[in-house]
Amino acid sequence: MSETPAAPPTSAAGTTNPASRPERPLTWEEVRKRNYVERIKHEKFPYDLAAEFDRLAATPYEEIPEEDMLRFQWWGLYHDKPKVGFMMMRIKLPNGLLTPQKLRAIGELSRDFGRGYGEITTRQDIQLHWISIADLPQIFPRLEAAGLTTKGGCGDVLRNITGCPVAGIDAEELFDATPVVLEAHRRFSGNPQYGNLPRKHKWTISACPYHCNAPEIHDVALVGTIQDGEPGFAVWVGGGLSTVPRIAKPLGVFVTLEEALDVPRAVLELWGNNLKYRMSRAKARFKFMVDDYGPEKLREMIENHLGRKLTDLKVNPQPKGRTDHLGIHPQKQPGKVYIGVPVFPGILRAEQMLAVAEIAEELGAEIRLTREQNLILTHVPAKRTDETLARLQQQAGLSLDVHPMRGHSIGCTGEPHCNFSVGETKTKLVEIVEHLEQQFGPAIADLRIYLDGCPHACGQHWVGDIGIQGTTLTTPQGKVEAYDVLLRGGLGQSAAIGKAVLRRVPGTELKFTLERLVRAWLVQRQNGETLQSFFTRLSDEQIQALAHGEPAAATA
Ligand code: HEM
Ligand code: HEM
Ligand code: SF4
Repeated sequence: MSETPAAPPTSAAGTTNPASRPERPLTWEEVRKRNYVERIKHEKFPYDLAAEFDRLAATPYEEIPEEDMLRFQWWGLYHDKPKVGFMMMRIKLPNGLLTPQKLRAIGELSRDFGRGYGEITTRQDIQLHWISIADLPQIFPRLEAAGLTTKGGCGDVLRNITGCPVAGIDAEELFDATPVVLEAHRRFSGNPQYGNLPRKHKWTISACPYHCNAPEIHDVALVGTIQDGEPGFAVWVGGGLSTVPRIAKPLGVFVTLEEALDVPRAVLELWGNNLKYRMSRAKARFKFMVDDYGPEKLREMIENHLGRKLTDLKVNPQPKGRTDHLGIHPQKQPGKVYIGVPVFPGILRAEQMLAVAEIAEELGAEIRLTREQNLILTHVPAKRTDETLARLQQQAGLSLDVHPMRGHSIGCTGEPHCNFSVGETKTKLVEIVEHLEQQFGPAIADLRIYLDGCPHACGQHWVGDIGIQGTTLTTPQGKVEAYDVLLRGGLGQSAAIGKAVLRRVPGTELKFTLERLVRAWLVQRQNGETLQSFFTRLSDEQIQALAHGEPAAATA
């Protein structure tokens, strides 16, 4: 991007909006003095690191500068724990779309370089671990040959563009948004022009009537709708999780399919060039700009930037419920079904990837990944459904016949790979889900538990029915693993950021605490209340009493 200093926000006299106070224009020099990542990006543009992969691969890890380790993020490589030179590698899959050939290539890379397993991520990507820098010269050509990329997987860029995994095939969708996702990916993903944003940036684009892609928690979401008979999108802005979570707000505009990418592009340019959002990494995400200006002023700025007025949105689209797209469903395409397969807790072994690739190839099927870390086999001939289920079970160890919570619960990468995690993550999720499904069975089929190892929220704990975040508890015996329990959060019509009502529950007690909360909900709920509305009705004190096993009557 050009280095012209951003214009200061225009002042509107008499308002209290902090953004409208006249501000001194900032300079790139000030930015770089304050923010070391900006300095590192300036000294060597991270995408240019590719020219040095061969040299870096031949360099002992201890001699690779910390700055280059950071620049690797732009190539989807993030330093894993312990920091001894092994990397996490994120393969970007727009809309979670895979072919058998691509999945096979990933399975083979996992087998050959990544100790034989990978993760399905909440942005519909696949992540491998144990990638050695020394192997990059072998890995990158293989990715490229398979039509795969890690470019822009991490770093201050537009991250993988997500969407509804059954776009183009689901009978209920408003229209197929896949072409818009792919066009956005082609124009903006990995594009050096947008390769130096103030911070990471996330888009989602879909016309899923269930909003399965969580538009509420994206920087920019194009939310499919039909206005005056025309398919297009409502634009939502300023959502995001991490330590300062936000639910996105409607910008108040409707965009047609043809103009759909103009507004997201304007956001990249207006936010990307405003140096105010480069001074502090903690205040850099686009959501802070939305906080500062508000959707109305932002719309005006976008309109000025585009040089035209945008169409008013008449009705803000709401999801008609929630779904995980798992199970067997007829496709729009006659004679075809899609089969959504739970992958719990989001980890696939290399042999499973290879087996699924083989099954899919033989059926003429494709594979897609979901936000809740599962996979979907699409374009399966309907009359081969039973045979496919049997093969998935026998050859890949994957079955539809599991408790549904295994399909729609999420655990972040966390242990043992992530430097931020302070406790078990996926393994803890398994322990909790196993315990609760034994206790309550089908009564909790719809329950979603989202668990993260730290506040960064890669597993979206802020918006789970029950959100769980790893922390520590200091006891006389020293620090022990503990978890905050968040309630009242959710997506969809009642989208809200959860509240940590219970703090620092020791890891050993967590599943029993959750059991008490879930039992209280099942026994005391009124008129089929959801878990979210039940705990919204109760006070913090009442919930804490329930968690401790006290017979507090939920009468509030
Ligand atoms: C890559 C291309 C472009 C870049 C990087 C860019 C960058 C910027 C930046 C940094 C601002 C200041 C935002 C702020 O208020 O903080 C701005 C404002 C503006 N841009 Fe652009 N711009 C681009 C293309 C265009 C084009 C093609 C037009 C006209 C069609 C345009 C029209 C405007 C207008 C009218 C404003 C004032 C917006 C306001 O503050 O209300 N820009 N642009
Ligand atoms: C400063 C550090 C980090 C922050 C603030 C952060 C925050 C986030 C957030 C908010 C998401 C969003 C989920 C969504 O799209 O809704 C996410 C995604 C994700 N994060 Fe992190 N994260 C950090 C570091 C890490 C590390 C070190 C790992 C693993 C080694 C990791 C693994 C993931 C994964 C697997 C996803 C799904 C993303 C994808 O496919 O793009 N994160 N992160
Ligand atoms: S939520 Fe925290 S612990 Fe989990 S993967 Fe993200 S950064 Fe790591």
